[in-house]
Amino acid sequence: MIVDKKHLYINGEWVTAQSYTPLYSPYNRSLIAEVAEANEEETKQAIAAAYEARATMRAMPAHQRASILENLARLLEQRSEEAAQLIALEGAKPLQAARTEIGRTVETYKFAAEEAKRIHGETIPLDASVSGEGRIAYTVKEPVGVVGAITPFNFPMNLVAHKVGPALAAGNTVVLKPAEQTPLSSFLLAELLQEAGLPAGALNVVTGDGKVVGDVIVTDERVKALSFTGSPAVGISIRSKAGLKKVTLELGSNSGLIIDRDTDIPAMIQRAVSGAFGNQGQVCISIQRIYVHQDIFDDFVDQFVQATRQLKLGDPMNEDTDVSAMIAPKEQTRAIEWIEEAVSQGAEIAYGGTIEEDLLLPTVLLRVNPEVRVACQEVFAPIVMINPVADMEEGIREVNRSNYGLQAGIYTQQLSTAFQAAEKLEVGGVIVNDIPSFRVDHMPYGGVKQSGIGREGIKYALEEMLETKLVVFKK
Ligand code: SIN
Repeated sequence: MIVDKKHLYINGEWVTAQSYTPLYSPYNRSLIAEVAEANEEETKQAIAAAYEARATMRAMPAHQRASILENLARLLEQRSEEAAQLIALEGAKPLQAARTEIGRTVETYKFAAEEAKRIHGETIPLDASVSGEGRIAYTVKEPVGVVGAITPFNFPMNLVAHKVGPALAAGNTVVLKPAEQTPLSSFLLAELLQEAGLPAGALNVVTGDGKVVGDVIVTDERVKALSFTGSPAVGISIRSKAGLKKVTLELGSNSGLIIDRDTDIPAMIQRAVSGAFGNQGQVCISIQRIYVHQDIFDDFVDQFVQATRQLKLGDPMNEDTDVSAMIAPKEQTRAIEWIEEAVSQGAEIAYGGTIEEDLLLPTVLLRVNPEVRVACQEVFAPIVMINPVADMEEGIREVNRSNYGLQAGIYTQQLSTAFQAAEKLEVGGVIVNDIPSFRVDHMPYGGVKQSGIGREGIKYALEEMLETKLVVFKK
């Protein structure tokens, strides 16, 4: 069998690396590619290319940056089925979900194209101070230069788009380090951007170990802004090494959903199940903790378990698969350990908890001790816990009993309860009458506490990828 060899993408060229590593399917462990494993020197070469290309990107007018991004969106749309198959293969994302992600990615690049044309400064009324009289001032927004993008496996195209899109819209250049398990989609992106008319060096894709490639990107002084999605431990370490760089961190969560007693359960149960188990629960805003009013707890659990039973497990490449393999065997082992810990501390398993044909069944745990890891850490697995609460205040308190704060959801027909939740939930986004996993790609997205700093959603991401320059004229 001939396996594709994937090289580094530096300065608009495919560059042979000194070392390559095999890439296996997370689902059946078949070999799918040989991928370049960059060393320090090769990573620095990519940064040098991005540094060189700064002048070209900086001089490029907004309409041209926008049209490159529009071209990219069109090219990706034309090859959307190929892109969906690729992310299903490399990341075991079930095909239907992979198609949804590609649709979103196209939209994200369209939003980036639009935002490229809206970047502007403001005029400053300097005469608000006596010493400012006789002067006029305005600000302009300038690209920071080189942006380092370090991206996760769970949305290998759309979370890359949330970094590359705004960076290019702002006139920056990019050094992209995709997740080790999902590099193929980033190579496709490089190909599409080249065809879309992006100048050489404006995007560089460097694959390899986070401790080598990531560290060089994070510490090199030519890189002026970093955008990272991943774990809090890595995020905190990046921030501590980043020096004076601007840093945006999206670090996950153990998202909570609260269900009031007036909730129409049949109307929302499918949505709740998909929010818990979509992409095997490997989503930062996956529903991990559900707090249900005690009056409807049993009914909710019955309907939730019944809907979970209908999920089809299997090959991500199959049209009808809902849940497939976790990203790596060691992650599945960890998930099982966490389930066992919860059970040893009194949790009941309402469904799942076991492996079938190498796949972890979607798992529903009840009455979980809040101190165990499936409750208080980010589970990133197809596991959800459901606990009863006496009232909505308790639900809000429980959701807030977390080191994370990305998004939370609440179903209620009571306007006052909804406003109370909106005010009191300690998160970056409160979603009323829908699940915390709701996201469209132009909304501000990011968290508080250990969920990170800064926001995605092109307009908001741009803020960390631009410098503000002040110009003062004395009359
Ligand atoms: C994430 O896992 O942070 C991204 C979720 C999404 O974009 O839907």
